Amino acid sequence: MEKATHSSWNVTVLTLFPEMFPGPLAHALAGKALENGLWHLDTLNIRDFSAGNHKSVDDIAFGGGPGMVLRPEVMDRAFEEVKKNNEGPLIYLTPRGKPLKQADVKRWSQQPYINLICGRYEGIDERILQHHQVEEVSIGDYILAGGEIAAMVVMDACIRLLPGVMGAEASLQEESFEGGLLEYPQYTRPQTWKGYTVPEVLLSGHHARIRTWRKAQAEAITKARRPDLWDAYKQDKEG
Ligand code: 6GU
Repeated sequence: MEKATHSSWNVTVLTLFPEMFPGPLAHALAGKALENGLWHLDTLNIRDFSAGNHKSVDDIAFGGGPGMVLRPEVMDRAFEEVKKNNEGPLIYLTPRGKPLKQADVKRWSQQPYINLICGRYEGIDERILQHHQVEEVSIGDYILAGGEIAAMVVMDACIRLLPGVMGAEASLQEESFEGGLLEYPQYTRPQTWKGYTVPEVLLSGHHARIRTWRKAQAEAITKARRPDLWDAYKQDKEG
């Protein structure tokens, strides 16, 4: 593995499909930042840590049931290789993990190294997760075929927060989510489109009234779509 530098944000991805990376992260905002050296990617192929000629990485589950489990000896060698190179957190993408939050993204974007582990099959032997103090993270309540796309989600969310990637726009956007509300509706020209008009208040030039309207809209949308965020927001206002 290439030795990463401290001058940028460094991510190591452990996967059976290293060719999937950087994938979409070679494009647009993240791709530009990659070209500019603002972040650095290493991939490790889990298969390279299997022993013997058969290159087997998985085995059947004790207790029975469908699917294969990634073997502890293989994953241990892979984790030891990662730990030789950096002291960043080991983050395993799995639907049974703690739900990913913007606070996690923010914390990880401020560390020089993070390591993302992508599982396939039914999972990883539990003892290896315990032994290496692996953090388990989920990106939502649905099942993906593997952790690779989830790892890209984590990377994308971190990269846009890196210094020099986005500029002032990002911090303002962030504040709005950290305020605990979903975004208010946005409009641009033309003022009338297929008979739909833009709310009068936005054309008024009345900055205080616009602010009040947007806040009310953000609250109504949050209340309707995300009762969990709405309850937390109200609690926060009271407390
Ligand atoms: Cl992190 N991995 C997989 N395979 N499925 C998921 C997930 C992660 N988060 C939600 N579903």
